[in-house]
Amino acid sequence: MPTPLSVLVMFSGRGSNFEALVKAQGAFRVCGAICDNPEAGGIAVAEQASIPVKLCCRKDYASLQDFKRGLLHCADSFSPDLVALAGFMRILDPHFVNHFSGKLINIHPSLLPSYPGLDTHERAIKDGVKQHGCTVHYVDSGVDTGPIIAQAEVECEDHDTCDSLSARVLKREHAIYPWVIQCIAGGEIGLSGRQVTYSDRARSEALQLGFKLAN
Ligand code: GRF
Repeated sequence: MPTPLSVLVMFSGRGSNFEALVKAQGAFRVCGAICDNPEAGGIAVAEQASIPVKLCCRKDYASLQDFKRGLLHCADSFSPDLVALAGFMRILDPHFVNHFSGKLINIHPSLLPSYPGLDTHERAIKDGVKQHGCTVHYVDSGVDTGPIIAQAEVECEDHDTCDSLSARVLKREHAIYPWVIQCIAGGEIGLSGRQVTYSDRARSEALQLGFKLAN
């Protein structure tokens, strides 16, 4: 058996994507978690699954610079093969992004490049779009601008509220994020420069699961 890819997850809140990754372990292993919020629901998820979670909070550092250094040091201490952001509500320092270049991914609740940043569901509803969804992408130093790996579309309905739409998107998030990480672990998805590469197997699975790939 090949050694499973070791994945560090970073979150700030509820942790439902973190939980979906924990449940999907096999080809990859969640080696630990970093959280910047002592109130985050994801901490209990980590404890229940006996996954080491390190709290790394801005208030515990004298300066922003120290915090950034601390965060990098904390992430490095897990020696991860991949870092998966799952609702980590901070823009990462370019130094952090470069350090984990090609090994840092994020899940975002919109069909990027539409609606980067916050309040994606509210904005989609306000604009009356017909399709919304989520995106898994590699992280670069911009906000939600890195190479797109895969997307799951969700149809918007006339009576949708932010809650109803976000619940349907979240369900797809919980399917697409583990799938992408399994593919990375199996060498079925990779990155060459800014181009995401897919094996034939990844392409056919994506088709079956209803995920859109970037190329
Ligand atoms: C998800 O919608 C994710 O796409 C975004 O932040 C939210 C985190 O939710 N980046 P959860 O903490 O995983 O439940």
